[in-house]
Amino acid sequence: MIEARTGNLDDVLSINSEIPEWTTRFSREHFEEFLKDKNPEIVVGYSEDKPIGFIVSYTEGDHLKIWVIGVDPGFRRQGIFRAMHKYCETIAKNKGLSKIELDIAKCRESMISASRALGYHIVGVEHKEDWPNTRIFLEKPLY
Ligand SMILES: CC(C)(COP(=O)(O)OP(=O)(O)OC[C@H]1O[C@@H](n2cnc3c(N)ncnc32)[C@H](O)[C@@H]1OP(=O)(O)O)[C@@H](O)C(=O)NCCC(=O)NCCS
Repeated sequence: MIEARTGNLDDVLSINSEIPEWTTRFSREHFEEFLKDKNPEIVVGYSEDKPIGFIVSYTEGDHLKIWVIGVDPGFRRQGIFRAMHKYCETIAKNKGLSKIELDIAKCRESMISASRALGYHIVGVEHKEDWPNTRIFLEKPLY
């Protein structure tokens, strides 16, 4: 059975090493340093209590900002991202936030497609000289 709920950094780090797309793997220290003043929301997807995906986000003004997303390749296309995202939406709505934002490197095509499938709109582009790192900004309004 697949379930999304609030998890912790240990869950995230246990999946972190399974994400093949990442060229840089964040260490525990990097996660802790980046998130230290952000009161983050860590949403984890579990299959039979095994962590298999995560979304790390935090509140920024009127919106929830997603910082990082990953699903174990062995469990993709089974609705894990969709389930975790739904949980994030509930968190954001309960906090009275109006939208969820994320930005993704242009080369992460599956991530962009999956976000579009979940209702995100592209709202901006920040061009970089090394085009794969051009940033695509997306947001999903919450009604
Ligand atoms: C993108 C990602 C999060 C999707 O996770 P997932 O659990 O497989 O996604 P879901 O099964 O919930 O899919 C939801 C919808 O997104 C779309 N989608 C998912 N993966 C897709 C892909 N590879 N290509 C196109 N569309 C895709 C589909 O429409 C899907 O719905 P459907 O299966 O009913 O058609 C996962 O592939 C991943 O972790 N990729 C690498 C993450 C990454 O690059 N992170 C760095 C940026 S933070």
